[in-house]
Amino acid sequence: MRVTVFSTKPYDRTFLSEANAAAGHELTFLEPRLTAQTARLAEGSDAVCAFVNDDLCAEVLGQLADVGVRVVALRSAGFNNVDLVAARKLGLTVVRVPEYSPHAVAEHTAGLILSLNRKIHRAYNRVREHNFALAGLLGFDLHGRTVGIVGTGRIGVCVAQIMAGFGCRVLASDPYPNEAAVAAGVEYVPLERLLAESHIVTLHCPLTPDTRHLIDADRIALCREGVMLINTGRGALVDTRAVIDGLKSGRIGYLGLDVYEEESDLFFEDRSERVLGDDDFARLTTFPNVLITGHQAFFTEDGLHNIAETTLTNLTTVQNDGPDAVPTPARIC
Ligand code: NAI
Repeated sequence: MRVTVFSTKPYDRTFLSEANAAAGHELTFLEPRLTAQTARLAEGSDAVCAFVNDDLCAEVLGQLADVGVRVVALRSAGFNNVDLVAARKLGLTVVRVPEYSPHAVAEHTAGLILSLNRKIHRAYNRVREHNFALAGLLGFDLHGRTVGIVGTGRIGVCVAQIMAGFGCRVLASDPYPNEAAVAAGVEYVPLERLLAESHIVTLHCPLTPDTRHLIDADRIALCREGVMLINTGRGALVDTRAVIDGLKSGRIGYLGLDVYEEESDLFFEDRSERVLGDDDFARLTTFPNVLITGHQAFFTEDGLHNIAETTLTNLTTVQNDGPDAVPTPARIC
């Protein structure tokens, strides 16, 4: 298949090229994001390969179909950036990587929790300046604290297992309770109770119209004073302005983010020479108790290897056996 790969970074090129040695597709790597302005660059391709901040709205999908594209292969698990109704109308096949390394995201989540609690990001800077004072670095034992997990799918279950390993009491909220989570000692409770009882709340549900701003001002008000809020799911699961207010009032005592509502204009690029135009993001970076990473939770060797392998297997299956041959969690349209 001829495949135009959007939003390509050097590491994408490396892992996709390695996996393609066996698959033999004709890959064209492009650096720009997929948008209404760039969609026509896919002319002559059978498929496009897209990432989390590529725009697959109805207009872009229409343009892709116009230039002959039949398949959209997402190299991500989340697919909130795709208008599936439009894709279906246009007869496009959309495939994704449902699972590549839940451990990668879960372990990064644990990293944010530990760093924020023990203030490792601040200690790192202090020691480099030969400041060995401990005042301001006080943490708390995770053992015995309550962690609330919103969404216990592949990633949420791994987080539950890790936090249970620290000796935490683990609560969860999910419309579909998961046996593996129960086996790890998780207690399912309504979201309101989870928020009221948890010292740490971590989000692992998909972004849908129902979960947009799941954590808003009203829900923040239900949280424990000084709660630690972690979001490695999707940025718009939290209302950023409400979170800033929560940090200012002290209701939120720690904030760890790997995703941000408006990240598509920021993340994955070196913007250090440019003026930051996003005032909310700028405000977030001023809080000493906020730790932000730029959507890197997935970014392990294992994760990238599995993403590349599954993406190319999806394309090969569509090419050789037709779209119906791709199993359901991978084929979403
Ligand atoms: P999954 O599909 O295995 O699990 C999602 C779980 O959320 C399901 O059990 C579902 O029932 C539950 N859920 C849905 N609506 C809910 C609600 N309103 N309240 C509570 N639970 C709800 O997905 P997986 O693989 O665990 O990934 C979760 C999310 O993590 C993805 O949708 C994606 O947005 C994000 N992600 C972030 C990455 C990163 O690098 N930061 C990498 C990979 C995924």
